[in-house]
Amino acid sequence: MDLFQLSLFFSISALTLSTTCRSTPQPSCYDDVQKGLSSHLNSSIADEINRLANIPETITWLKKTRREIHQYPELAYEEIKTSKLIRHELDHMGVSYKWPVAHTGVVATIGSGSPPFVALRADMDALPIQEMVEWDYKSKVDGKMHACGHDAHVSMLLGAAKILQELRNTMQGTAVLIFQPAEERGEGAQKMIEEGVLENVEAIFSLHTGYRWPTGTVASRPGELLAGCGAFQAIISGKGGHAALPHDSIDPILAAAATVISLQNIVSRETDPLDSQQVVSVCKIHGGSAFNIIPESVTIAGTFRAFTKKSFNALKHRIQEVITGQAAVHRCTAELDFLEEYHPTIPPTFNDERVYEHAVRVSSHIVGKENILTAPSGMGSEDFAFYLDHVPGSLLFVGTRNEKAGSHYPAHSPYYSIDENVLPIGAAIHASFAHSYIQNLISNN
Ligand SMILES: *[C@@H]1O[C@H](CO)[C@@H](O)[C@H](O)[C@H]1NC(C)=O
Ligand SMILES: [Zn+2]
Ligand SMILES: [Zn+2]
Repeated sequence: MDLFQLSLFFSISALTLSTTCRSTPQPSCYDDVQKGLSSHLNSSIADEINRLANIPETITWLKKTRREIHQYPELAYEEIKTSKLIRHELDHMGVSYKWPVAHTGVVATIGSGSPPFVALRADMDALPIQEMVEWDYKSKVDGKMHACGHDAHVSMLLGAAKILQELRNTMQGTAVLIFQPAEERGEGAQKMIEEGVLENVEAIFSLHTGYRWPTGTVASRPGELLAGCGAFQAIISGKGGHAALPHDSIDPILAAAATVISLQNIVSRETDPLDSQQVVSVCKIHGGSAFNIIPESVTIAGTFRAFTKKSFNALKHRIQEVITGQAAVHRCTAELDFLEEYHPTIPPTFNDERVYEHAVRVSSHIVGKENILTAPSGMGSEDFAFYLDHVPGSLLFVGTRNEKAGSHYPAHSPYYSIDENVLPIGAAIHASFAHSYIQNLISNN
């Protein structure tokens, strides 16, 4: 109920705001009186950004860049060519950057070089998938593919770099452009943060291609957007022995069976069925060697997801209690591991309300207020969430669905493709967000 009302409220308020924005002649078009914070969009700058993004040569270059990256997909921490291409383009624009950050990452800065700092982020890595799309710029690397749009993300952020560099003299602060590795492993963002990319950054923004929404639309929501995602593995140990003499053994099979059932009872018995937004799945169970031997131990493993930080942490805690508790009840011990080394626990992606509203205002100037959509919360997760744990920010989906372009397959499908008309839109939204957010921070101080 809360979520539904919230989304309704925000889609209406976003529309109202942007209507005001477009129809008022004054350049500074919106004051958030309620919060005592003002949020402006300088429409002459915003128009200029849109114009720069849509220069035919720029569009050609955006496509060329994306196609080049698409042909040579690279997995997590192997983004050598991609990183090189980014640096080459930045050099060409005269934009300074730091490299290497987190192995292959690049962090460019554009503007005055002084605070306020506002960050934009793109991820660079591809997936271990064999591309099935037949087209001129198909992946040239067997078994690897940009099936999550990260090639487009890089291209759009480079587009923003070009635009912002053009407008650098109008910036009273600095845009920090983060090209991050290893999103698909859920690791890159964390590593970039450890290397200091968020130092002094006051807000962060990112775009993800969205196959559900038509090209020319933008979709997101304030608050909970994507679920947090964690993994667990437990080795449940007892005492092995002969199947005919169970009293001489401590049976870990029985303990594991009870544990699996108990784990399924957490969500079904402890959360509101109308509003649970959580899931636990046990996906692996290994143990035993013969039909008549009680084994020493059994391994179970699985995953859990939830939307709010609170429910995510509570769920993680209950998984721990249930596994250790059930093992103990059956006289076994459990060695529990949340597998952080192989698959980091990704927190829920939570859009800061104020940054979200600003992003919507910026986007509606570019795609039109009627093309701002409220996205439902999704069970997927994004390592952008790590940044959001440190600074307020927002993630927006930028629509790429176009049946004629064949871009209606879900992300991570071997048929995934994007409608390249998204590229100038994304570049403009990125650039406009950074430029205007900096301007707002200046005028609010
Ligand atoms: C918009 O930006 C331009 C260029 O920096 C500046 O000349 C103009 O004064 C700005 N308008 C407002 C209302 O801030
Ligand atoms: Zn992905
Ligand atoms: Zn992705």
